[in-house]
Amino acid sequence: MSEQVESRASPKASDAAAQSPVQAEHEAALLDVVGLKTHFFTFGGVVKAVDGVSLSVRRGETLGVVGESGCGKSVTALSIIGLVPDPPGRTVAGRIDFEGRGDLVGAGAEAMREIRGNEISMIFQEPMTSLNPVFRVGMQIAEAIRLHRKVSKKEAMDSAIEMLGLVGIPSPMARARDYPHQLSGGMRQRVMIAMAMACQPKLLLADEPTTALDVTVQAQILDLMNRMKEASGAAIMLITHDMGVIAEMCQRVSVMYAGVVVEHTDVQTLFANPLHPYTVGLLDSIPRGRGRGGVSGQLKTIPGIVPNLLHLPKGCRFQDRCSQVHAACRQSEPPLARSFDEDGAGHLVRCWLHVSPAETPARPQDQS
Ligand SMILES: Nc1ncnc2c1ncn2[C@@H]1O[C@H](COP(=O)(O)OP(=O)(O)OP(=O)(O)O)[C@@H](O)[C@H]1O
Ligand code: SF4
Ligand SMILES: [Mg+2]
Repeated sequence: MSEQVESRASPKASDAAAQSPVQAEHEAALLDVVGLKTHFFTFGGVVKAVDGVSLSVRRGETLGVVGESGCGKSVTALSIIGLVPDPPGRTVAGRIDFEGRGDLVGAGAEAMREIRGNEISMIFQEPMTSLNPVFRVGMQIAEAIRLHRKVSKKEAMDSAIEMLGLVGIPSPMARARDYPHQLSGGMRQRVMIAMAMACQPKLLLADEPTTALDVTVQAQILDLMNRMKEASGAAIMLITHDMGVIAEMCQRVSVMYAGVVVEHTDVQTLFANPLHPYTVGLLDSIPRGRGRGGVSGQLKTIPGIVPNLLHLPKGCRFQDRCSQVHAACRQSEPPLARSFDEDGAGHLVRCWLHVSPAETPARPQDQS
């Protein structure tokens, strides 16, 4: 993804017409992430968890980020909100622009504290690790409010109780006095949403907000998130490994694989015309009746596993699992670029079978 960083690092005013499609995709975004690299420096070596991620979230939309376990979804979100554990993790390259106000990478702890919870907030993958077990939930929400708003303790608690009511917790005044362990998983997730939305953020990073919940509670929580989004106008970056959740919730989707985005387009196009072999595999592995493979009823899986992020192969990261691998794939890594079978949907893909010759030094057949 360095090609995107380079193209943005040296903009020329007269270049508007010659702007790259990837650059255009990032225009006017609420959040614009370009070439983000967050690595973990471990005793075993450098884990390239996020290795050149570019994505953008528009105002008021829900962007889905989907991919298998370990592909860097959570680390991307933690990088955006400035909570990567350091050491061993560090953002070593890239740019995170929020509202066109400048780069959040290296913005400093104080600036990030001001933005976090106030303008960008996060629902974490594990609610029990982000709710403090020894404090009552109402107090935790009230404290989050008082971090960013100059209000009295009483006013903050009143707002916290109001938020608990808004997220559908019955008897919110009584429940505010509960400790996290006294609540069910679904209720805890509602508390997390209440806390995340308490300061009316412009962007909500929701990391697998429903994975641990049963299907009916999952549907209720997704519905709640949609209603909160409508009411507040916030944008959501929704991380999930569930294509069904993507279909229900998102307008656009970024598919991640082994630390990079491999495909990006709107949700209808992704389901109707997936281009990257990994995306095709993900869609084919959706259970019968929900995915593309529904007719035969044969549930397909993607063979193999995600490559070791300590030792990535030369060339395409998906090569060892791809049925269409060819010589070019082992020579160099394709960029994320507009597909040459462009379908008018701002469809970006990182695969030598589809990238536009204008974006790449040569077409696959020229290299093999
Ligand atoms: N503190 C850490 N130290 C070393 N490696 C880490 C650390 N945190 C994350 N990683 C590695 O970074 C990679 C990406 O992790 P991440 O949590 O972002 O994956 P994910 O896509 O969110 O997966 P899941 O769907 O399982 O939540 C993984 O290989 C993980 O082992
Ligand atoms: S670049 Fe090659 S190996 Fe990678 S997804 Fe495309 S065809 Fe498969
Ligand atoms: Mg995760």
